[in-house]
Amino acid sequence: MTTTPLADRTTTVAARATELSKVYGQGETQVVALDRVSVDFRQAEFTAIMGPSGSGKSTLMHCVAGLDTFSSGSVRIGETELGSLKDKQLTKLRRDKIGFIFQAFNLLPTLTALENITLPMDIAGRKPDKEWLDTVIAMVGLADRLKHRPSQLSGGQQQRVAVARALASRPDIIFGDEPTGNLDSRSGAEVLGFLRNSVRELGQTVVMVTHDPVAAAYADRVVFLADGRVVDELLSPTADTVLDRMKQLDTRVRTT
Ligand SMILES: Nc1ncnc2c1ncn2[C@@H]1O[C@H](COP(=O)(O)OP(=O)(O)OP(=O)(O)O)[C@@H](O)[C@H]1O
Ligand SMILES: [Mg+2]
Repeated sequence: MTTTPLADRTTTVAARATELSKVYGQGETQVVALDRVSVDFRQAEFTAIMGPSGSGKSTLMHCVAGLDTFSSGSVRIGETELGSLKDKQLTKLRRDKIGFIFQAFNLLPTLTALENITLPMDIAGRKPDKEWLDTVIAMVGLADRLKHRPSQLSGGQQQRVAVARALASRPDIIFGDEPTGNLDSRSGAEVLGFLRNSVRELGQTVVMVTHDPVAAAYADRVVFLADGRVVDELLSPTADTVLDRMKQLDTRVRTT
């Protein structure tokens, strides 16, 4: 295996937060949701974000994805500093460079599966790359369900539509906030398998929040948050090593 020179690694950063802080409210009701978080998400890497409820996982993802403002620090997507963008530019960047998969699939009930998949591109006035679209649809196994509406699909199939929608426009980076949280373990495993394949085979960059050590084990790397800070990181995770690390962090939090 060759090691990547530092210079190369920095050019392959898909997204980066530097000293990122997010404070909600003021005075007695003030909540520091993110406390000077610095983290890189590299291209073609699958990162899981874990941590207790309220530790700042969704806030971090929303700030890095340009869905929420931050109090201080900086975020860049590729070479673009989000702080330097006007609202319109930010909307465009989100539309062109970022894919989202939410826990509630956010599909439009009146559109077919295929129409849902291509909707973001239709809104942006972009023509889907047919070959790529076919690859994505084949990968998520939806070829024979494209004319169905969401209500005619199972939960797992709906979530696969949401995954295909995120992948279809070839975004620079895909963010998922508990993308398998609503699925049974088999459908969840399928969706996680697609995400991992998209990273391994298609070079997609994926960042996913999860509470589930088994889901985190699909990632290349786990970043652990506690109280708005990055407290640990684990490479090549397995469900067991993730669970162990969660226990250690739990004890550390309780004894300090
Ligand atoms: N709009 C808001 N106003 C005030 N405080 C907020 C707001 N949104 C989040 N918070 C607080 O910020 C902290 C981090 O919230 P966040 O949603 O990022 O947690 P999380 O790690 O995603 O938790 P969960 O696992 O429960 O989804 C929490 O203490 C939360 O109460
Ligand atoms: Mg959350």
